[in-house]
Amino acid sequence: MDIRYEEQIKNCVDAYEKLLRGQLERAERMEKAAPAVDYTEKDRIVIGLIGGDGIGPIIMESAKKVLDVLLADKIRDGRCELRVIEGLTIENREACGKPIPDDVLTAIKACDVILKGPTTTPKGGTMESANVALRRELDLYANVRPVSVPEKGIDWTFFRENTEGEYVLGSKGVEIEGKLACDFKVTTDAGTRRICRAAFEFAKNNGKDNVAIVTKANIMKKTDGKFSRIANEIAADYPGIHAEDWYIDIMTANLVNEDIRSSFQVFVLPNLYGDIITDEAAQIQGGVGTGGSANIGDRYAMFEAIHGSAPRMIADGTSRFANPQSVIKASEMMLRHISFTKEADRLCKALEITTGPDAKVRIDGIVGATGAEYTDYLLSVL
Ligand code: IPM
Ligand code: MG
Repeated sequence: MDIRYEEQIKNCVDAYEKLLRGQLERAERMEKAAPAVDYTEKDRIVIGLIGGDGIGPIIMESAKKVLDVLLADKIRDGRCELRVIEGLTIENREACGKPIPDDVLTAIKACDVILKGPTTTPKGGTMESANVALRRELDLYANVRPVSVPEKGIDWTFFRENTEGEYVLGSKGVEIEGKLACDFKVTTDAGTRRICRAAFEFAKNNGKDNVAIVTKANIMKKTDGKFSRIANEIAADYPGIHAEDWYIDIMTANLVNEDIRSSFQVFVLPNLYGDIITDEAAQIQGGVGTGGSANIGDRYAMFEAIHGSAPRMIADGTSRFANPQSVIKASEMMLRHISFTKEADRLCKALEITTGPDAKVRIDGIVGATGAEYTDYLLSVL
């Protein structure tokens, strides 16, 4: 072995030891976590609104208009507050060299739930994604993504683990220059238990009798092996629910296989597989602009569009055509999460009408309605 590498190897091993200790602490913190907040017991719920980057502020303006109307009474009674949080922009993040500026994080933590536009993440380098940092800082471990296409019999809910896997140390990999790079994937017992519990509880409470556990445990033996084993242990507590193990590669094929796809109901899967397959699923529903995404923890929850900040639409001047449906769908999920069920149902119905086959205003790239035109239509249906 070339002596030049010895020092680099030593540095990598030291870095790895620190990471391992940090992850062990995280695992132990999770084991001692407090029970989840009950929103029905709160006198006042603060909803933080974050614009984000690119098309984010444009689609978030639509969502805010919708929420202002839906929550007018509750805002007047002081039962709820819509609080705009500024400063989670790529310019600010780059200026302070942090994925979430400190003052922004403090403002976020003073809210109960957050509705957020997409944020830009630079490729390469070490700047962590704001999304990933928020999911970690607020411990939002369940990424819940529903996809439904009633006319095709599709009614799927994905429970994507949201705080570990390839993501938790995604910007902490090690490298031997000019030779190799090594990233880390982390799966904890407690982290797996809580996401699997969330998926099976959802199935039980929503009349579902099938949960697909999706991994690549034949290859990622330690991490995915653990995920699959623990998921099956949790499944044993739900005798009415059929749990089945699948590998992620064949599951991506299943979603486009019309013979079997409508038999799937609930999916539970590690972070990166969940990231990828939920884009595929959203595309089947009509595009990534149509999917809502809930990031749920025991103390906080954050709701967002499933897609990115679309810098291309800003660059080519077509951002007014950005589709706000995903972030509006996310608003519906948020209302449901905080037990504002009546308002959520009202929005759900309006979304169904305005995206259904008889819709009078249609978003369709740059040949359809603009986001603002669609929003006015939605408001008229509300
Ligand atoms: C998502 C997005 C994010 C992710 C990005 C923006 C960091 O793709 O929410 O699916 O990879 O989780
Ligand atoms: Mg994604």
